[in-house]
Formats: sequence, C-alpha cells, structure tokens
Amino acid sequence: MIPITVCNHKGGTGKTTSSIMIAAALGMSGRRVLVVDLDPQGFLTRMMGVAEPDPKASSCALFGESQSFDKASLVNPGAFSLIPASTRLSTDMRRLTRSIDVLWAREFQEAHFQDFDYVLYDSAAALTVFTLNALTAAEHVLIPVLPEYQPVVGAEQTYQTAITVRKKLNPAMQDPIFLLTMVDGRKRNHLAYENYLRDRYGDSIMNSRIRTSASLSTTRHDGQTPFDFDPRGRGSQDYAAAVDELVARTERRPQPEPESDTKPESQPERKPETPADTPESLEVS
Ligand SMILES: Nc1ncnc2c1ncn2[C@@H]1O[C@H](COP(=O)(O)OP(=O)(O)O)[C@@H](O)[C@H]1O
Ligand SMILES: [Mg+2]
Repeated sequence: MIPITVCNHKGGTGKTTSSIMIAAALGMSGRRVLVVDLDPQGFLTRMMGVAEPDPKASSCALFGESQSFDKASLVNPGAFSLIPASTRLSTDMRRLTRSIDVLWAREFQEAHFQDFDYVLYDSAAALTVFTLNALTAAEHVLIPVLPEYQPVVGAEQTYQTAITVRKKLNPAMQDPIFLLTMVDGRKRNHLAYENYLRDRYGDSIMNSRIRTSASLSTTRHDGQTPFDFDPRGRGSQDYAAAVDELVARTERRPQPEPESDTKPESQPERKPETPADTPESLEVS
C-alpha cells in the first residue's frame, strides 16, 4: 500500500483534478485504489457524483476514538474506491486541537487500507489538521503546482511543511514530488517558473507536465473523467504519462546496499531555502 498526499497550500492548483485523474489512471491499470476526500468543501466527492454522505460513512470516520469503518460504505464512482467528504468535517475540525490529533489518519490507514495498492488523500488549500494527518500518513507527497507566482510560493511552503512533518512525525516520507499543472506553453512566465522550479528542486519535479486542457476544465458531477469522455484528449494523455512516471517513482524499491566495505558516501540532505526567496523578478507576463 502506497499512501500519497496531494496538497498545495494554495487553492486552484489542480489538487482535486490530479487526485481524480491519477486515481482513475491507476485504477484502469488494474491497481486497487482508494481516494480519501479530506477537503471539507468536498469538491472531489461532488465531482464524482456522490451525494452528501452519512458522516459515519465519510472521511469523518478517520478522526475519532471509534475508528470503525464498514467497507460496505465505500463508494465506487469509477475505477477507484472513495471515502467521500461530509460537510461535518468542518465542525469536527474544531475539536481536533490536541497535538496527537495529527495521528488519526495514519492509525486508520494501518488498520483499514492494507488491501489497496494506492491510497490518495485529496486535501484543502489551507493547512488544516486534516492535511497534517494526511502528511503524517503519507509515503509520498505530490504537490501540483501551476507555474505562476502564488501557486509556486504555496508549493514551496507546502514542501517546507512536508519536510517539517517528515522530521517530526513521519521519517518514512520520501522527498516531495512537484507536478506542473495547467501549463500554457504560450505564456513566458510559465516557462520562467518551470525553469526556476527545475533549477531549484531538480529531480523532485516530475518530467511529465499537465498542460491546460478543455476537458480538464470541464466540471462534471456524474463521476465521468476525461478518460471516459475524451480519452484521446490532451488532459487524458498528460495524466496517463504522469501516472506512468509516478508509478516508476513510487514503486521503485530502494537498491540493496553494496556488500563491499567501500560504501559510497551518503548524499547530504537537501536543504531548500525558504519560500521567501522566490524571486519576484520572475513575475513577468
Ligand atoms: N490542466 C488543466 N487545464 C484546464 N483547467 C484545469 C486543469 N486542471 C484543473 N483545471 C481546472 O482548474 C480549477 C481548479 O482545479 P482543482 O483541481 O479544483 O484545484 P484545487 O483542488 O487545487 O483547488 C477547476 O475548475 C479545474 O477544472
Ligand atoms: Mg480541491
């Protein structure tokens, strides 16, 4: 089971779209995939055509002493299973104020999600207790980033948050991965921000990038994804390629240590600078 948290502290960067498209592509490849909607606004749930659920059969179930979950309440809107979001998440957030309240999702995942190959957590833009839970449970963090000023700053802040969570709570977390989304090759600043990110974060930026596409901007509420209604379109092709790369990155097993005494020196941990260093000068149009 590979848990991936999709997050960026900035809204509108393609988190929900990426969660759906990645889950759909992984599901179509025969993998067993679960999506957990942790956004109290529940856009993913609604886009998949799922009505407001009973809180007990929603992602609220992850955050409480009972931690009971009936698999029968999983929704299967397409090629993957879904634990939908309930509007109750926002009221529940107010009682999750203790420091140990960031550990619920990881405990729940260990108890209930072992049958899945992938678990994807879609998160809200704000850094809520739910996002911290998802980061604490994640092996991988996927940061969708639109190559413009605010989303790039949000992505860098998210990267720093993930690194902090790794240090304090989740040493098993791998380096966060950035996925460029809504890239418009005609915009000079998109190219400038893409280059900026690639220079600064190197291999943490996925080679695949998601271009702007009409089918991805179409909001539907019937559970259909562009893989169903526009399989040859740019959106489907870009996400299919991104998922191949993501699979290669996440299913890559660590190489065994060489047996000789002359072990290669370990690489120093990468320390990106603070997001405040994002050059404003890149903000050209
Ligand atoms: N590659 C894309 N091309 C065009 N529109 C997109 C693309 N990806 C997402 N969108 C649209 O952008 C808006 C924000 O995307 P969304 O996935 O909801 O972002 P987030 O979850 O980060 O807030 C949505 O209306 C979505 O349909
Ligand atoms: Mg969203």
